[in-house]
Amino acid sequence: MTTVSEAIKKRHSARAFLDKDVDIDIVKNIIEIAKQSPSGVNTQPWNIYVLSSDARNKLVDEATSRYDQGKMDGQEYLVYPKEMPDWYKERRRGVGWAMYGALGIEKGDTEKMMAQGRKNYEFFGAPVGIFVTVKNCVGPNGWGHVGHFIQNICLLAIENGLATCLQEAWAELPKLLREHINYPDDETLWCGIALGYEDEADPVNQFRTEREDLENFSKFLK
Ligand SMILES: Cc1cc2nc3c(=O)[nH]c(=O)nc-3n(C[C@H](O)[C@H](O)[C@H](O)COP(=O)(O)O)c2cc1C
Repeated sequence: MTTVSEAIKKRHSARAFLDKDVDIDIVKNIIEIAKQSPSGVNTQPWNIYVLSSDARNKLVDEATSRYDQGKMDGQEYLVYPKEMPDWYKERRRGVGWAMYGALGIEKGDTEKMMAQGRKNYEFFGAPVGIFVTVKNCVGPNGWGHVGHFIQNICLLAIENGLATCLQEAWAELPKLLREHINYPDDETLWCGIALGYEDEADPVNQFRTEREDLENFSKFLK
């Protein structure tokens, strides 16, 4: 059995998946356990929409077509801050270049970058696409609580031999998603989750992101 530490260390964003179906009962079991996540006064301010087979494929067709035509809806919440401090820019660039480096995409090659960005809207080939919404009334505090739920899904995926990629890219298509998954007006679409069996041989899955040293973000007070 995978320990929690092993699952945390093994989890990373997978951006290429095998063409292999995921048993929907495994997905249901993951969600069933993930729902034990803590939330303030037990609000459980999340809802989840799981797409596979036709539902997934129809969405992918329309989303990639919108991407190709440059007809995205635009964000209903601010995905990135308007003012990015230097540390934010550096970390953002760091992950971007690690990924493009693994793929052999050079700086300035916008065509290849766009093609990689497009893969978000194919769930990177994952057979299951999940959407997570947050109840509007909870505000920023509640988004953190939904984060617990999302992380549990990611770790349980590892325990089941699966991999994930969280995808705020879908925040660019809230209207299209409203048509496909019919989430109500009192929910905000936060992110997608690509779920499937990782293609470990694909170059995009070869790199790992770094983390800050513990002493740079922790204080131990006695
Ligand atoms: C809420 C959220 C949204 C994300 N959205 C995307 C996305 O749209 N596309 C993508 O390729 N990666 C996305 N990521 C993955 C992050 O880039 C990744 O988690 C981070 O660089 C750390 O790398 P790791 O997940 O491999 O440890 C997202 C992560 C989070 C937590």
